[in-house]
Amino acid sequence: MSNPAITRALFDQIMVPNYAPLAMIPVRGEGSRVWDQENREYIDLTGGIAVNALGHAHPELVTALTEQAKKLWHVSNYYTNEPALQLAQQIIDNTFAEKVFFANSGAEANEAALKLARRFAFDNYDKEKTEIIAFHHGFHGRTFFTVSAGGSTSYSNGFGPKPGDITHLDYNDLSALENAMSDKTCAVLLEPLQGEGGVLPIDKSFAQGVRKLCDKYNALMILDEVQTGMGRTGSLFAYMALGVIPDVLTSAKSLGAGFPISAMLTLDKFASCLTVGTHGTTFGGNPLACAVASKAFELINNETLLNGVKEKEHLIRHALEKINQQYDVFKEVRGAGLLLGAVLNDQYQDRAKDLLLASADQGLLVLAAGANVIRFAPALNISHQEIDQAMDKFKQAVKVLTK
Ligand SMILES: Cc1ncc(COP(=O)(O)O)c(C=O)c1O
Repeated sequence: MSNPAITRALFDQIMVPNYAPLAMIPVRGEGSRVWDQENREYIDLTGGIAVNALGHAHPELVTALTEQAKKLWHVSNYYTNEPALQLAQQIIDNTFAEKVFFANSGAEANEAALKLARRFAFDNYDKEKTEIIAFHHGFHGRTFFTVSAGGSTSYSNGFGPKPGDITHLDYNDLSALENAMSDKTCAVLLEPLQGEGGVLPIDKSFAQGVRKLCDKYNALMILDEVQTGMGRTGSLFAYMALGVIPDVLTSAKSLGAGFPISAMLTLDKFASCLTVGTHGTTFGGNPLACAVASKAFELINNETLLNGVKEKEHLIRHALEKINQQYDVFKEVRGAGLLLGAVLNDQYQDRAKDLLLASADQGLLVLAAGANVIRFAPALNISHQEIDQAMDKFKQAVKVLTK
């Protein structure tokens, strides 16, 4: 039973107004379904913004969490713990990584990556090697360093002096990067598909060009896979389909499948500069988080599940094409795997939020990425039947929008 004293109006009374949540309050979830306080059912194509990779209340994750909860919740980094080492070993066995650092959010993993790049350059090269190159419309989190590296000044303006020596270029523009890079560049930070920036795919040749330029100038290639990682695009990490190996990779969101945890993955030679005391976080490697993430890793790193992501991408794309044939609302559908963006055409500019709300009225939860893109990031194990039902609801929402 939900608590009737808890209302959406209470949010406006007692919460810092930096979010604008929907009117309904979800109270329960199971797989790709969510129920609100009135017991109204929704199909969830948001995955908690690409987090709930295995849906809500996955029985094996519930077991992993509750079993660990009975044993050990938290010990701090004065000690290591079994779940943390087990998860780190799984990551190392299945990726390019030789070393792992755990934190709690995507922003913190990126903060660690940027600090690592600066420190590695400081220890090994000229003291002026501090430039970080990042990209317009990129998103890397809300700490002041990561939001300054992000490509939207509207998120970083108005907070006083920003961390310096960060250059922003156009995404996928290799010649701009060639012109900008120098021996002063210590890192290039990019997403292998810009999620928040509008679900913008990367050109493979750009990713490979970044790799070559980073090698040429001894700069670290930092791939922010906070949104794309853990199966979201159909491979365990997106870099695996790009023909590049980064120096540093950050993961969060689906890593814990709903439990907050993030990781920075890197190689021995870079990791060695973060000596004892140079960086840390109280909760990083927390046993509860790592126990859940370890089980999630095992379930997601599965060929059948990952192949299913591609199949489901085709189903959604096909359904969106059919909707578009009838209502002519989108100029394109882009993205990869189960991170897809339907871009509104000129007639429906700035109406993504309206379509999101119309979808919720139909019992369907979707995301926006900016004012003109509807984003879909469902659980990777959503069923074909649920996708069909969701697309029927979405069609009704589009119908309402176009009336
Ligand atoms: C690519 C990317 N990096 C970093 C972040 C920040 O992650 P968090 O909100 O967990 O700090 C996000 C969140 O949307 C993201 O999409």
